Amino acid sequence: MKFFIDSANIDHIKEIASWGILSGVTTNPSLVSKEGKDFKQVVQEICGIVDGSISAEVISTEIDSMVQEGKEISKWHKNVTIKLPTIPNGLAVCKILSSLNIKVNMTLCFSVNQALLCASAGASYVSPFVGRLDDINQDGMALIKDIAHVFSVHKIKTEILSASIRHPAHVMDSAKAGAHIATIPYQVFKQMIQHPLTDKGLEKFLADWNDAMLKKVPDSVKV
Ligand code: G3P
Repeated sequence: MKFFIDSANIDHIKEIASWGILSGVTTNPSLVSKEGKDFKQVVQEICGIVDGSISAEVISTEIDSMVQEGKEISKWHKNVTIKLPTIPNGLAVCKILSSLNIKVNMTLCFSVNQALLCASAGASYVSPFVGRLDDINQDGMALIKDIAHVFSVHKIKTEILSASIRHPAHVMDSAKAGAHIATIPYQVFKQMIQHPLTDKGLEKFLADWNDAMLKKVPDSVKV
């Protein structure tokens, strides 16, 4: 499973990119507006940090303006993926943009049927929101499993991008359920790398090494 970061924060993206594990970045209008910067500038900065799919979302909901916006944003960088909402106009625009070889990530997906429609419209990625389903007492991870099963039965190439991830177990379960990608918030990456036994083990290795070095009598003082 590939890792994307779900963020528009340049410092956070740089830090996680420095781990060498990022294959892409997803943004959304909420994340971009939190940064208080120009949308184009943020997207281009991100494209300069991570060499992979960078999702940037349109904010129109009418077909013509969505197409226009999508085409414009796609010119900002070769790695830009256009993010569209999973609504009827989103499907129509997905079909148009994907026919022009512009990659599309269909966002706000909450059902297998929506995912199938997105795939039929030519989406490169479909983003089921696991956390928001869990929030309303539905099983977000069951949706990932079901989409992965149906896509595999029908040999559908659209990649499943597990989104709205809230904690490390969501990442592990997305991988088990067959998601191709998980888009993960900065804080969750920080939690994923942590393990108390790693810290304790490292501390002991270094302490043992330093003890041995202190005890070692240098050859120069031997008689
Ligand atoms: O970027 C889309 C998605 O990951 C949003 O997550 O936590 O706002 O439901 P959240």
